[in-house]
Parts: sequence; C-alpha cells; structure tokens
Amino acid sequence: GRGGGLVIAIDGPSGSGKSSTAKGVARARELSYLDTGAMYRAITWWMLDNGIDVADAAAVAEAAARPVITVGTDPSAPTIEVDGADVAGAIRADGVTGSVSAVSAVPEVRELLVARQREIIAEACATTAGIVVEGRDITTVVAPDAPVKLFLTASAEARAQRRSREVRSSDVAATQEALARRDRLDSSRSVSPLTRTDDATELDTTGLSLDEVVALVVKLADEAQAQA
Ligand code: DC
Repeated sequence: GRGGGLVIAIDGPSGSGKSSTAKGVARARELSYLDTGAMYRAITWWMLDNGIDVADAAAVAEAAARPVITVGTDPSAPTIEVDGADVAGAIRADGVTGSVSAVSAVPEVRELLVARQREIIAEACATTAGIVVEGRDITTVVAPDAPVKLFLTASAEARAQRRSREVRSSDVAATQEALARRDRLDSSRSVSPLTRTDDATELDTTGLSLDEVVALVVKLADEAQAQA
C-alpha cells in the first residue's frame, strides 16, 4: 500500500499543460510533484555529454545505469541533478529535446527510470500527503492504480503556442512541426507509448486558463478522496 498518500497521475503530449497543471495542483493541495520527462531528459543529457551515440540503442542500454539521477519533488522548487550537478537548464536545450525520444524508447532506460519513479512515489506518500506525477506512461505503467488519472490534450495550435512561449521562440510553425515529430515518436514507440486508457479522464485544455484547469483537477482529486 501507499500509506494513504494520494497519487494523481497525469499523461499527455508536449504542450498540453501537464507541467503547469501538475505543479499548480500539487501546490494547491500541498502534495509532492514529479516531472518524469525531466528524468528522461537528464539521462539523455548525460548520454550526449558522455559522447554516447543515442541512435545506438545497445550503447544507450549498456550505459543507462551509470548516471545517478536525483530529483527534488517540492512543486515550488523542483530540482534535477545528474551525478550531483544541477542540470535543470541544460536538459531544456534543443540537443536534448531532439534526442530524448530515441533515448526514452530504449526498454532498459524505461525499466530503470520507472523503478526509480515508483520509489519516489512511495517515499512521497510516506512523508507527504501524496504526489502529482506527470509524463507519458504514468496512468498506464508507472501508477496505473492511482485514484486520479488524467489525460490532458489541447489543439496542435494551442500546444505549439504554449511551447513557443516556454522556449521563447517566435517561430510557432517550426515549434508545431517539432512537437508533431516528437509526439509521433512518443506515441508510436513499441515500449509504453503515450496512450489514453478508458479509465483516465480526458481534459481538453484548449481555451482554458491554467487556473481553470487546476481548479478542475483539484475538484476531481477532492471527489476521489471523498470516495476513498
Ligand atoms: O514532458 P517532456 O516534453 O519534458 O518529456 C520529454 C520526453 O521524455 C518526451 O518526448 C518523451 C519522454 N517521456 C517518456 O517517454 N515517458 C515519460 N513518462 C515522460 C517523458
């Protein structure tokens, strides 16, 4: 069991509003927060930094256990470190974004990170009121028994606009193309592709403000807790 901690699992494509929503809900309900995408980005950053060819799945699999990835789960100050070094900025670089789909498609990488994510969830449930976890396979693989499971979507245009703002790019069309490419890769890989299950609540965030989305999710979480 999880010692009573609440787990809120959120999946969705890039730009669907997952990170802002997950952080906002965690803050509103004093829960921990885990960005699993940051962990895939951190391992990808380490592969690139160590000259490992990310297109060589066998080389990636062989090296996967070498970097020590540490995450801080405070939603107001989330942290990510590789071998003790802060990589929060480095993992958002274009080089990492362009290679993360290849690295995250390697089964050994997923096995290691999923195990680590489950430890972090158990720890958060033992020490805090629970945790909001966001990614691509949280509702399906990492925490399929979470009492609150959400699948966030938004129109391709809305997602590209949000991502452009995040990375401070004025080229929305190029961003939309890069997003579409990554979504295609993340949804078509053979291991744990991004998929919506029937028991996950789909929430289309197009045209909704962040506050509105957070309020909706908090309401769903309160309802799930009342039923527990
Ligand atoms: O959420 P993000 O864009 O920072 O995620 C980066 C990449 O990591 C995404 O393209 C796919 C991968 N990822 C994954 O495979 N599984 C997860 N649970 C989270 C992210």
